[in-house]
Amino acid sequence: MAPVNVKKICCIGAGYVGGPTCAVIALKCPQIQVTIVDLNQSRIDAWNSPDFSLPIYEPGLVEVVKQARGRNLFFSTDVDKAINESDLIFVSVNTPTKKTGVGAGFGADLHYVESATRRIAAVATSSKIVVEKSTVPCRTAESMRTILESNCRPGCHFDILSNPEFLAEGTAINDLFKPDRVLIGSLQTPEGKNASAALAGVYGNWVPKERVLTVGLWSSELSKLAANAMLAQRISSINALSAICEATGANIDEVSHAVGFDSRIGPKFLKASVGFGGSCFQKDILNLVYLSESLHLPEVAAYWRQVVDMNEYQKSRFSRSVVETLFNTITGKHIAVLGFAFKADTGDTRETAAVTLIRNFLAERAYVTVYDPKVEVSQMWQDLTEACPDWTLEQLQKYVTIVHDPIEACKDKEAVVIATEWKEFLEIDWQTVYNHMSKPAFVFDGRLLVDAEKLRKIGFKVKVIGRGERV
Ligand code: UDX
Ligand code: ADP
Repeated sequence: MAPVNVKKICCIGAGYVGGPTCAVIALKCPQIQVTIVDLNQSRIDAWNSPDFSLPIYEPGLVEVVKQARGRNLFFSTDVDKAINESDLIFVSVNTPTKKTGVGAGFGADLHYVESATRRIAAVATSSKIVVEKSTVPCRTAESMRTILESNCRPGCHFDILSNPEFLAEGTAINDLFKPDRVLIGSLQTPEGKNASAALAGVYGNWVPKERVLTVGLWSSELSKLAANAMLAQRISSINALSAICEATGANIDEVSHAVGFDSRIGPKFLKASVGFGGSCFQKDILNLVYLSESLHLPEVAAYWRQVVDMNEYQKSRFSRSVVETLFNTITGKHIAVLGFAFKADTGDTRETAAVTLIRNFLAERAYVTVYDPKVEVSQMWQDLTEACPDWTLEQLQKYVTIVHDPIEACKDKEAVVIATEWKEFLEIDWQTVYNHMSKPAFVFDGRLLVDAEKLRKIGFKVKVIGRGERV
């Protein structure tokens, strides 16, 4: 049986994963027609905008879209047409943590995956390879297969693959151009292996063969959760050590450096911070916790749960240290928060630590002024209203101000809190910032970003996460 020669690909979901991934596939495979579809008309309009004001900010993405859009890359809301025309369909829809019902707070909300799958079954008039791209709990592929097989038209056959995406936001294009690995999971049947070979052939256009790993479906699904859980676990481990550093006078950067020099450990993902965010880490660990509990493995569940608990502890520890350092009260005080995105080089705010910090400051009735170079103002208000359900928008707007300039954000404030490691915060004229702040002027660096000594020479009182110096 020769693998299907993939000529047309459709991607359902034009978000942070589907958009960049399939744009890069189109760029690297000019012989394949790629159509990215979404139900959200304004998102699709933005992908199609003549001036390339794309709906997501990702360095290098505009250049990719500029080269491929209109050639073999198309964006559309006509989901049914794209499904019908394709040989291979990526399902790349959102899978947020469930808010209500069974597994609320832990399990993934799979209704977007299910409705996309049902749509494929309802409209497909020929056989397809369906690829699960969204991060999903183990055995979701099995559910998708059942839905497709129970609802498909006669003569249609579906092969399900799992192909989790490992790109990180901010470096997505580079990660897609040169992935550490591409993982393809399939049923170990001749048809499953054949579908896997077809998808491997697509990646083979630019990814070296030895980096394309083909495994069983369940291993592929679990590997994605495992990779994210282990990356997050490194951050929680280093953040736990940062608390010891602050209590003892050790320096977490020096500890990370020394530990990371061990070639078995390696230097990456050992940077202490105010807490990890993003759409994946917390969600995937909670998924793993939920899976472990449903498999009656409470010790395994408790082990992974602690990674998320430590992250929560880090955020509240940092907020508490701001209050304690500002003479045990921030009520009525003015705090500038620099950065709102969950990391630099993205406009994404999902699970960002900045929201937790601001919520904690508001609970003390401090006034907060926020600046972020990429996050939309409307997004910040949406996140803050969701995080503070007891506050009306009018109340929030009395306490929170959003500005478009970092120097203005810091003007007349008692303290500056660095919540995201944007490079531009390094280049701020800190002398000017100091001149315009109330005194004593405090800087709380939650990202190990600024040169604390330089700031101290200007006159700031500086507190850096993971350092025990007295302020
Ligand atoms: C992550 C995984 O890296 C990626 O492989 C997967 O596909 C999706 O989830 P992402 O969430 O986009 O990617 O960003 P990542 O760079 O992993 O950062 C996640 C969070 O951890 C950010 O808040 C970041 O600031 C924080 N972080 C990262 C640290 O606090 N310290 C570190 O050393 C690294
Ligand atoms: P991710 O970070 O996983 O890419 P996003 O939320 O950024 O998640 O993107 C998921 C996209 O999937 C959203 O733009 C959403 O509108 C789209 N989507 C969800 N369900 C469907 C569906 N059934 N058909 C088409 N698009 C969908």
